[in-house]
Amino acid sequence: MKTYDIAVMGGDGTGPEVTVEAIKVMKAAEAKFGFKTNLTDFDFGGERYKKTGETLPDSAVEEFRKFDAILLGAIGHPDVAPGILEKGILLKARFELDQYINLRPVKLFPGVECPLKGKGPADIDYVVVRENTGDAYTGTGGFTLKGTPHEVAVQSSVYNRFQVDRCLKYAFDYAQKKGKKARGIGKENTLALCGKTNVLTYIYDLWERGFNEMGEKDYADIRRDYYHVDATCMWMVKNPEWFDVIVTGNMFGDIITDLAAMTQGGMGIAAGGNINPDPGGVSMFEPIGGSAPKYTGQGVINPLAAICSMQMMLETLGEDEAAAKIEEAVKWATGEKMESMQAGRMGYDTSGVGDLIATKVAD
Ligand code: IPM
Ligand code: MN
Repeated sequence: MKTYDIAVMGGDGTGPEVTVEAIKVMKAAEAKFGFKTNLTDFDFGGERYKKTGETLPDSAVEEFRKFDAILLGAIGHPDVAPGILEKGILLKARFELDQYINLRPVKLFPGVECPLKGKGPADIDYVVVRENTGDAYTGTGGFTLKGTPHEVAVQSSVYNRFQVDRCLKYAFDYAQKKGKKARGIGKENTLALCGKTNVLTYIYDLWERGFNEMGEKDYADIRRDYYHVDATCMWMVKNPEWFDVIVTGNMFGDIITDLAAMTQGGMGIAAGGNINPDPGGVSMFEPIGGSAPKYTGQGVINPLAAICSMQMMLETLGEDEAAAKIEEAVKWATGEKMESMQAGRMGYDTSGVGDLIATKVAD
């Protein structure tokens, strides 16, 4: 029987609660589809940091390398200054494990309320391939004259050709295998580059050249579109049906996927994966929303984003049948059972939603 070693990091706030539900569904899928997972818990997060001053030690990163995947709840604690846990845990794992793709599906499930007038599940069905190791996230920069009236702060967007090319290759491959034509719902597979070539004339010039060169040379069958980031935001609201696969840098990818999440029903349902697609790479799956401190411990938070992230993990591990069944169960729950995607208004509590999906998957 196929066995996977999974590191579990529930993290902060509602992270542990939603992770429990993801695992519940995973266990149901294991029994049904004949694979096995060995889970190892890690308690990194705000509480541990407050007690010990430790974020994510190097030894833990080395340990993570031995796992098949990592399941993460959420990182972020109201008592800890912004940046410490994010940089010390989340970004450290992404960078050290070279998870250079942040894959964020934008999919409106049946029955989910959409704030875009007149748009339904057929219109909102695309993915964002966010580069996950470069850009303003590298920490390149600093202060001079700090604390004086003439203080200067610089934080640079940094990319090299290697980072751009490996991300583009992943995005083109993804469009070829899972674009709208490949899925039988469109005339062509399309990859759109989201940039800002009119102002960021170095960074996005590099991206655009890489995009066109690779597209012309190796992916002539894939339609290429280009959008500036501001226009991307506009079209995501006005004509989301135009999108298939979008590829972009780390910073724009961060911003546009929060907007995208709102169009698919909110943070309660927005899943993501930090992926290292290279042989032996260890990927980490997490809901894109945060730790939602105000809902912690109340049993009201929506676990679907965590369940869908776990579903992406199974797909990445090659458990396609189980992944498809989980997606079907989620669609059934949103379409037939749940009243809302919002915390406290689902018509079920957190574990009730987990039970719904787990029961359907086992069925
Ligand atoms: C995300 C988050 C992180 C990011 C933060 C918490 C560092 O917003 O995963 O989108 O900016 O990448
Ligand atoms: Mn974000």
